[in-house]
Amino acid sequence: MPDDTDAVRLEPELIAGLRDDLESACFGVSELDALWGEQAAAALFRGQRSAARRAAAAGVAGANPLAILATVFVLGLPVEEAALANALPALGIAGARRLGLVSEDQGDEDARGARLVRPLVDLRPYSFADDIGAGTWWIASDLGELALGRALREDHVLGVGGASNTLSAIMIREPVGAALDLGTGCGVQALHAARHAARVVATDVSKRALRFAEFNARLNGASGIEFRRGSLFEPVAEELFDQIVSNPPFVITPRVPGVPEYEYRDGGMTGDAIMSAIVRGARDHLTPGGVAQFLGNWEYHGDDEAFERVQAWLGQEREPGALDAWVVERELQDAPQYAETWIRDGGTRPGTPEFERLTDAWLDDFDERDVRYVGFGYVTVRRPEDGRVTLRRLESVESSGSEQGGLGPHLARGLRIARWLASVDDGQLRLATLRTAPDVTEERHFWPGNDDPTLLALSQGGGFGRRIAMDTGLTAFVGACDGDLPVGVIIGALADLLDVDAARLSADLLPRIRELVFVGMLEPDGAADGLDLR
Ligand SMILES: C[S@@+](CC[C@H](N)C(=O)[O-])C[C@H]1O[C@@H](n2cnc3c(N)ncnc32)[C@H](O)[C@@H]1O
Repeated sequence: MPDDTDAVRLEPELIAGLRDDLESACFGVSELDALWGEQAAAALFRGQRSAARRAAAAGVAGANPLAILATVFVLGLPVEEAALANALPALGIAGARRLGLVSEDQGDEDARGARLVRPLVDLRPYSFADDIGAGTWWIASDLGELALGRALREDHVLGVGGASNTLSAIMIREPVGAALDLGTGCGVQALHAARHAARVVATDVSKRALRFAEFNARLNGASGIEFRRGSLFEPVAEELFDQIVSNPPFVITPRVPGVPEYEYRDGGMTGDAIMSAIVRGARDHLTPGGVAQFLGNWEYHGDDEAFERVQAWLGQEREPGALDAWVVERELQDAPQYAETWIRDGGTRPGTPEFERLTDAWLDDFDERDVRYVGFGYVTVRRPEDGRVTLRRLESVESSGSEQGGLGPHLARGLRIARWLASVDDGQLRLATLRTAPDVTEERHFWPGNDDPTLLALSQGGGFGRRIAMDTGLTAFVGACDGDLPVGVIIGALADLLDVDAARLSADLLPRIRELVFVGMLEPDGAADGLDLR
């Protein structure tokens, strides 16, 4: 069958050869950092490759395979054909051409008359450490703007970026049967999901993206991933999944001629309609108890209250099929800021006529629909096993969390603890025993020379790294939570000590105790309450 996709090709023997070569060159993240050093790595992160090229030059001249592979596939620069042949002994230049990694064009020469080869793809190591363990993969994607020296094509296949890292960091990694990665791109989330799911379906509208994703799965020896083409939930029409993850093309884009529609970031719908489609789709495609997690943007129209649109997508808590939800807004941009972010992302610099033209297109679109702000964040939803919603939490959180290995376990705990909190009324909560979590510290601030604190707060080391202002009663309560006395007994003792009415103190403290339990500052005594809070 003719291959009409201009992306990498899937030839198992050649991919195995490439894997051997990458392994023997020690093509890893820390090895690259050591090759070009901290400053060049930082410059590269800012989109400047000169320092890294200079740092790798001696290695390239000395036929060091790591330096050669890094120059071609990470920096996107041409190298002498003989040098690349030396760095790819198993695959060979013909194999690299056949796989679509380097250009077929054999005419290029350098100043000394040596034949050059040019990369066609970006191929780089990617490493991670999470609650399952640490690992390294190699990820192929399209060359970026820096290497291309021009704007990206509209069907550009993105490599692992900041948003990919955000999603993989919040991904819950508990063993599941079937997982769906919607909009898989280069396939990195599908690779992550394949570590804890028995079966993964990875979908994308882009044939080129699916090709890269499948190439990456084969290159990294991942099995159990099925690749399907189609929009949103179309390719999985009647199927249910225990887990759905998606870093969808959520970027709000004006639908007027002359505004590029990048497939990797734009789902082709109006405003934030893709988000509502994904939330509704999650309702129809989760097994009971199943969890979906995705990144997204949501618009604020006119004088909308916080999360008004997201609330509407989630629907009423009592309606059939309603989902538990924990929505975290990480950033709120006003309309001009939002336009600037995504115009810059497309490679257009401020101060140019093109930048002005695109800004007008974005602001016209926002004006037409009265969009004043756009929120960015992540959504975790669960289909309740018994159909009863126990969690609806929509909040702005500034900290991205300080949890080693990502927020996945913290979010999973939140889903579990919400069920527990909903299952105990205040009378039962008074009988529970709680412990202060080991990562919680107390802050006290004083006016100079004054013994009475002016501010008391609890700070969390893990989770979202929250800081919660306290008063004397709650501070004293938390201080007494060592898993020994039940909540009600501590409150009674405090009422005596502070000489206040016990019922009033209880009514004041219990909702705040529930909040501290939810955010992870207080832990119920799992053994006593039959809770598995891992
Ligand atoms: C931001 S990229 C995410 C890539 C990858 N999952 C990651 O986390 O790095 C979004 C992907 O969604 C795909 N996409 C765009 N429109 C889509 C649609 N309507 N249905 C499914 N996928 C779509 C794009 O081709 C692109 O690969």
